[in-house]
Amino acid sequence: MQFIFRKFSVSLAFKELPTHYKPSNIYDLNTFPKHYEDFISKLGSEYPGYNDPTYMNWVKKVRNAPSIIGKVNKVEYNSDHIQTWSTLYSKLRKLHYKFACEEHTENLKELEDYDIISANEVPNFAKINKYLKQKSGFQMVNVGGMVEPRIFLYGLAFKVFYSTQYIRHKSVPFYSPEPDIVHEIMGHVPMLANKEFARFSQEIGRKALGASDDVIDVLGKVYFFTVEFGILSDKVLGAGILGSCKELEHVGTGKGKIEEWNLGKVVKQDLTLSDYQPQYVDVGSLSNLKDIFAEVNDYLNL
Ligand SMILES: [Fe+2]
Repeated sequence: MQFIFRKFSVSLAFKELPTHYKPSNIYDLNTFPKHYEDFISKLGSEYPGYNDPTYMNWVKKVRNAPSIIGKVNKVEYNSDHIQTWSTLYSKLRKLHYKFACEEHTENLKELEDYDIISANEVPNFAKINKYLKQKSGFQMVNVGGMVEPRIFLYGLAFKVFYSTQYIRHKSVPFYSPEPDIVHEIMGHVPMLANKEFARFSQEIGRKALGASDDVIDVLGKVYFFTVEFGILSDKVLGAGILGSCKELEHVGTGKGKIEEWNLGKVVKQDLTLSDYQPQYVDVGSLSNLKDIFAEVNDYLNL
């Protein structure tokens, strides 16, 4: 069975936060638990690395680290983890040069030039956050896995990007059933450093504060088809594609169906979690994101 990595689902069954709970400042984010989708229990022996106790113990330790605003969780990566990172890094970089949007490529090159990201080590959040704070004000904060949409969107409202830190198992470097650090760093970080893109992400998060579940569902879909799986004038914008070798090749070589932005269609679109997206949405340019958010805002205020 072919699995393609997916980061975010608005159809997650678990909802832990009360609907109208609304953090009033960034430190309120520390006050609620970051429950996450438990892919290990869900997949059992099909979870990559399940029969490797050393790896599984490490993953569980990384997942269980406290998630605290402003405090970077330091993770020890061994030679196997670094090898997996290096393998993916090299392959993804070649694909990025061909298929990624210019904004992603420029910022990833800058991260390399500053020696923040390289093939030789798994990047640490302290260096990443120093860079992001200067570029857009965002910061990565560790979580144990794919958190519920409401919590994730609340983080965006305060320029907090909840992010995993474990890395997929060495036996299947081109597959992960859930977000890992390869997706977060190679897919998300370069675009979070872009001010226009960061502003759009934060606006989606702000709109989510205290919103109903129905509004969260709409915002989750807008996020999913732009930040995760968006296209930018035929080049790849979305982190769900940029962090996946297979999906980058799929989209980059013209096998994906790409449509123009259409909010009415996006909100009715089902999310595909176990294969490529049946269609991707081309937002045209980053400056269009402002208009897209205004359209979303109008739609939700009707
Ligand atoms: Fe993601």
